[in-house]
Amino acid sequence: MFVVVGVTGGIAAYKTVQLVRTLVTNGHEVHVVPTEDALRFVGTATWEAVSRNPVTTSVHDDVAQVRHVALGTSADLVIIAPATANTLAKMAAGLADSLLGVTLLATTAPVVVAPAMHTAMWEHAATQANIATLRARGVHVVGPADGPLTGGDSGPGRMVEPDQIADAALRIVDATAPDATERQAPATADLAGLSVAVSTGGTREPIDPVRYLGNRSSGRQGTALALAAAARGAEVTLVAAHVDDGVLAEASTHPRVRIVRVSTATELGDEMTRAAARADVVAMVAAVADYRVAEVSHTKLRKEDGVPRLELTGNPDILAGLVAARRPGQTIVGFAAETAATEAELIERGRRKAARKGADLLVVNLVDWDQGFESAENAVLVLDAAGEIVAEASGTKRAVATTVLDAVIALRTAEI
Ligand code: C5P
Repeated sequence: MFVVVGVTGGIAAYKTVQLVRTLVTNGHEVHVVPTEDALRFVGTATWEAVSRNPVTTSVHDDVAQVRHVALGTSADLVIIAPATANTLAKMAAGLADSLLGVTLLATTAPVVVAPAMHTAMWEHAATQANIATLRARGVHVVGPADGPLTGGDSGPGRMVEPDQIADAALRIVDATAPDATERQAPATADLAGLSVAVSTGGTREPIDPVRYLGNRSSGRQGTALALAAAARGAEVTLVAAHVDDGVLAEASTHPRVRIVRVSTATELGDEMTRAAARADVVAMVAAVADYRVAEVSHTKLRKEDGVPRLELTGNPDILAGLVAARRPGQTIVGFAAETAATEAELIERGRRKAARKGADLLVVNLVDWDQGFESAENAVLVLDAAGEIVAEASGTKRAVATTVLDAVIALRTAEI
């Protein structure tokens, strides 16, 4: 593949050397187009050495070959890493005052930007408006990640690691290829650099060594959410209680999904609390038992002893605990399976639960004896913390997951 790597003037340019190297090692034809400012951080000789191609910043070099247009029209993929606030502003305005600017206007290939800047610059309304403009124009935004920044500060603004950028960009090309299917990559890597914690499946509360109180959750919706988040570039911890056979097969081989198996609500609560401590997005999709048996028998209850009377005790509401311990900037999503006679009743129950739980989003779905559980399909309403419907989806659990993640991104973008 013919890849143009645009490098702009940020210290993260030194990491882009690794990005170019990875692309070249994987057999791609890479042309680096630095801005003048980028060359203050990493010089032409380095870019030429790693890309194995000549490097220029000027539209006036190689005029006979119309190089500025040729680069753009030949590209199968353009990656800008790091993308400074200045470059994002220029891109949004369509400026062509450098070889990179001209290349960007000349290309029809997918364009992936990996922003890198101080948190204050990233959060500035101007930068956010420029990012929104670029997204609307189909530009793919990878990151920025949250972490230590040059100068000792910490926060969103760190360039996503080079291998993750390469991975996200190549998947975007796969996804935008004409024969791409839903199973391949999505058209965005808008969760790259983010950590996502998802719970799935149904908990089992032991009665004795052979019996338990459980529920019918198959684990499909939570696993679909985890896979959809990973496909959009997130690092995912999937805390899985009991799930149907085969449900975890794809997730267990995904390089960005870590599966933690649990059984009881207490174990699920412990693992989700641990994962949430460093997560940017938390989704409680699991069907958690509200009650457990107060005194678990360590020997099998026997028929001869008569019908047992089980005393139950309440389990803590894990979601409420996660909301109470929320990290700054963390987005928390709850799920609520409800039985309701009408959609109005479903919405009303969802609204009351949204108010009670305090999550940023509550995904409500109708369940019944023959609906909601164990199937590959789902139909949901997504409510915000105020109980307003912000999205609706029906179809495969993967399609529902995509809608939920879109709502998460919309919320996070609005909050910046
Ligand atoms: O109140 P209800 O059980 O319907 O709420 C469902 C939501 O709360 C789900 O997100 C579920 O994972 C979560 N939950 C929880 N701890 C419980 C019960 C439910 O986190 N003990």
